[in-house]
Amino acid sequence: MPSVPPGRRVIITAALPYANNDLHLGHIASTYLPPDILYRYLQHGKAEAIQICASDDFGTPILIAAEKAGKKPEDYVAYWRERFEQDLSALGIDYDLFYRTSSEENVELVQHFFKVLYERGYIYPSEVHQFYCEIDKKFLPDRYVRGTCPYCGAQDQYSDGCESCGRTLQPGQILNPRCAICGTPPITKASKHYFFKLSSFSTQLKEWLESNKNLQSDARNYVLNWIKEGLQDWDITRDISWGVEIPLEEAHGKVLYGWFDNHLCYISTALKAAGKSQGKDGADYWNDATVYHFIGKDIVYHHYLFLPSMRLGEGRFKLPDYIPTRGHLLLQDKKISKSRRWGITIREYLPVLPPDYLRFYLTRITPYAQTDSNFDLEEFQAKVNNELVANIGNFCYRSLVFVKREYGLTIPEPGEAGEAEKTLLAALKKAEEETTRQIESGSYDRALKAILDFGTSCNQYFQAKAPWEKRPDMATTIYYASNCVASLAVLLHPFIPFGAEELWEQLSTGKDLSDLPWEESKEQLLKPGHKIAEPKPLFRRVEDADLAALQRIIEGKK
Ligand code: MF3
Ligand code: ZN
Repeated sequence: MPSVPPGRRVIITAALPYANNDLHLGHIASTYLPPDILYRYLQHGKAEAIQICASDDFGTPILIAAEKAGKKPEDYVAYWRERFEQDLSALGIDYDLFYRTSSEENVELVQHFFKVLYERGYIYPSEVHQFYCEIDKKFLPDRYVRGTCPYCGAQDQYSDGCESCGRTLQPGQILNPRCAICGTPPITKASKHYFFKLSSFSTQLKEWLESNKNLQSDARNYVLNWIKEGLQDWDITRDISWGVEIPLEEAHGKVLYGWFDNHLCYISTALKAAGKSQGKDGADYWNDATVYHFIGKDIVYHHYLFLPSMRLGEGRFKLPDYIPTRGHLLLQDKKISKSRRWGITIREYLPVLPPDYLRFYLTRITPYAQTDSNFDLEEFQAKVNNELVANIGNFCYRSLVFVKREYGLTIPEPGEAGEAEKTLLAALKKAEEETTRQIESGSYDRALKAILDFGTSCNQYFQAKAPWEKRPDMATTIYYASNCVASLAVLLHPFIPFGAEELWEQLSTGKDLSDLPWEESKEQLLKPGHKIAEPKPLFRRVEDADLAALQRIIEGKK
């Protein structure tokens, strides 16, 4: 690791996937790829960073799914967690720790939060009338009930939230309820529940939203409006067996709602990854860091309201500095949805094309905003072929082939830098600065674009200098061109780690790519006389047959 500026510690989290489904392209675009770009960038000597994630294990939908699969919920979630790690790692997304919300550490932290909030009066008991199915003989929380949204009228919504207007619903709010297991209308029965006083944090939340300038303004305005409409207290109890037990004698047989425990797993997992306790050293560690929680726009409510309120109420762990929030990914202009059988999972993508191609294209089309993006197969092919294969790949390969053919794999001694070289070096300096600026401000799409623009400058330089004509300054050309290749390997590392590492291997510097301080990407990294390894083409084109294979995956579900 290159040395990092003192005091710059960063904790990066990505929203925890529910342990009941494979990850698909949409999850990667909004939630898992952006933090990995930041993490990899920071590792080039920018900060001491950790990246963590976990499986989101508890809750009614997962219990239902485990029951259906005939498995114990513990085994069921372990199965998915392993698949998450495999899929993410295959895309080059690795974590300091990929843990689980059902971990001992998380349960401990969650119960601690409950107790403190309860003692301080932020949690209070109240009788509720719960849906109860007389056929299935059980209370029916959340997803056991479907009905009509009381706000927007959308039909067939789960009783805990409307997918159509994005609002969360309290138990009992849904209209025309039906039991999701057997379809009959449920009766209501009294049950003692615990409520979190979200309403008492309105003022503090508003202050935080207004003063934290790092939050995206689209999300901020949305949430400020919700606060203005008035926040409702939040029922955090579920009458099921799968969850964190409520740590009170009288609450026997009840567990906490999944959204009470899951986000605390950011803290419990980060502390575990860093080897800290949940006491003072852990709190100090957390509070000294810049904290990023990357999410998709469908969980804004939870991250901008529930999460900060619970932290404010407990008081020892600071609120996030950044909550980078991105929109949905459409596929061929249609919403990705398992129930509507539309999408491509990571597992389905991987046998078809390299992970870098997916990372590249998704980064190119995903802005730092809540607007949706569209995965278009033909655009994917065109962008990868024109920008990655032709622009970047060919320049690198051609340059290194000259080192091999003309100089026996040895970087030549350059002559004096002329106008063309000065222009090229200015473009490199600008690329490094612009990439840094854009990454630091969250716009990874623009950062990548800045590198591609530099790739274009490199190609123009190469064309203008035409080394195949063997002009007297050919050595100078090849020296600068191959040094630009080295710079590109560093700059591209956060975005397409597999290609960048492979390129770096070909340069044979003997150093780890991640050990290179980021700023050095604008220097001449390869000295005259340095011997490189055998150059190989980095990328292959996306053929029509590849698109057809992706198309078959989509069609095959119908
Ligand atoms: N599992 C949730 C979802 O997919 C996200 C949980 S993120 C956390 O919507 F912060 F709450 F853990
Ligand atoms: Zn609605």
